[in-house]
Amino acid sequence: MDTTQEKLTALRKRNEISFKGGGEERQAKHRAGGRLTARERLDVLLDPGSFVETDRFVTQRCTNFGMADKTVPGDGIITGYGKINGRLVYVYSQDFTILGGSMSRTQANKILKLMDMAIKNGAPMIGLNDSGGARIQEGVEALGGYADIFLKNVLSSGVVPQISAIMGPCAGGAVYSPSITDFIFMVKKSSYMFVTGPDVIKAVTHEEVTKEDLGGALTHNQKSGVAHFAAEDDKHCLLMIRELLNFLPSNNLDDAPLQETSDAPDRLVKELNTFIPDNSRKPYDMKELIHHVVDEKYFLEVHQHYAQNVVVGFARFNGHSVGIVANQPQVLAGCLNIDASKKAARFIRFCDAFNVPIVSFVDVPGFLPGTDQEWAGIITHGAKLLYAYAEATVPKITVITRKDYGGAYCVMSSKHLRGDVNLAYPSAEIAVMGAEGAVNIIFRDAINKASNPADERTKLIKEYENKFNNPYVAAELGYIDEVIEPAQTRVRIIQALDMLQNKRDLNPPKKHGNIPL
Ligand code: HXC
Repeated sequence: MDTTQEKLTALRKRNEISFKGGGEERQAKHRAGGRLTARERLDVLLDPGSFVETDRFVTQRCTNFGMADKTVPGDGIITGYGKINGRLVYVYSQDFTILGGSMSRTQANKILKLMDMAIKNGAPMIGLNDSGGARIQEGVEALGGYADIFLKNVLSSGVVPQISAIMGPCAGGAVYSPSITDFIFMVKKSSYMFVTGPDVIKAVTHEEVTKEDLGGALTHNQKSGVAHFAAEDDKHCLLMIRELLNFLPSNNLDDAPLQETSDAPDRLVKELNTFIPDNSRKPYDMKELIHHVVDEKYFLEVHQHYAQNVVVGFARFNGHSVGIVANQPQVLAGCLNIDASKKAARFIRFCDAFNVPIVSFVDVPGFLPGTDQEWAGIITHGAKLLYAYAEATVPKITVITRKDYGGAYCVMSSKHLRGDVNLAYPSAEIAVMGAEGAVNIIFRDAINKASNPADERTKLIKEYENKFNNPYVAAELGYIDEVIEPAQTRVRIIQALDMLQNKRDLNPPKKHGNIPL
């Protein structure tokens, strides 16, 4: 019988083996690629000393293809819980140095156990993914593990925030779980996401593509929109996750934490009275406007590189977290297109699920015209945005800074979609369409018959502009609550948020709606 001391030594030895991961050689190779190890990542992500590991000694049970000799404590994934700025989170970190971080039945069980705890205890679930996908030697058992995780991801959706970091080559099943989660972070030049890699693509379609072009961080942040954040390196990625979490509640029954601020709630932003250009065709940077009005000019942009004609992200007003949705006149004149509609709709649904009020800044000439957009289904995709705004029951505050035309007027958090407080600047133009287009349609005959059609057209455009290119028709109808001086934007938004802090609104009971997917 071992002595107590011998038992302690045995325990320490087991722990040491686990801490070594795939061994020094593999870890050196891993680090040479600029990546931190699975444990180092947890050290950066979590408050110092807060990590508690679960299932450290769990091993895999596969015996196919020589796997019986490849049992490693933990089986290539570190699971547990810890704190971020003092708040509980659950986290897993895959260890690529052990069988390529591949997903075994054992790995899946460890993750599922954590996900159950996250739901029960109402805390965010964070996955640090670095995996070659389903463990090939296990076959369908590994696939079953993935499918069980997908199900749990879906059941957790809207209950606790789910965040994924892609920190290495993630292939096959390793990309589907992240895609169900709320936010995906990728690391430039060392992380990849694809369902099938370059070799398979070459064999099947004869296309040649590098893994960077196929599924690198910029590809997914700019082109596909699959990822929401692109980090410079592992450390930057993990620090960004900490930053994002500060804006979010721990679960759907909670509110986001209040952040003390020295930025006065009654601060007037005088610069804004001259910020919107007199010429309504001249662009301006909506992000600059956002920075002017939010607490300490701090705005955490989400999906920064994708569909830049709409801007989404988190900021605070008087310490309260809000989600911001804004048209960007600098890109495509702020038109809504398919990508922008999908981007904003998903963000709005996240905010609504997690009690984060939505503040919308509107300057939109309409939906982007063209065969490209029509044939790719702008009708369905634009309707996603409409649906998301209409369905949302969190406080909704809208500020119309300039153009608000046509269908886009209806969509962008209008009064008709249950906007709670709808404000407009004196520069707002709320109409069915721009004056030129409108005059060409409704006065076609009158213009053609006029002795000087060009003069007649100019006169009619002026008349139309005088009638509709202002916020007052909408204000007279009560579709706008108040026309404000732009300098008052911050004050008015804070007053509105304060007034709405106990807002209760419900949708009719149903199993679920049918958003046009
Ligand atoms: C078992 C795996 C593995 C896997 C990698 N490894 N992927 N072991 N199952 N899926 C092992 C390798 O054998 C190797 O072991 C070690 O991990 C490191 O891998 P390398 O290939 O040396 O690394 P690298 O050159 O960096 O390439 C990484 C990679 C590549 C791009 C991820 O390993 C790869 O293409 N793997 C397979 C990817 C894939 O097709 N997955 C799909 C699985 S099917 P040794 O012992 O030699 O160091 C799937 C379907 C789920 O996931 C569908 C759900 C919807």
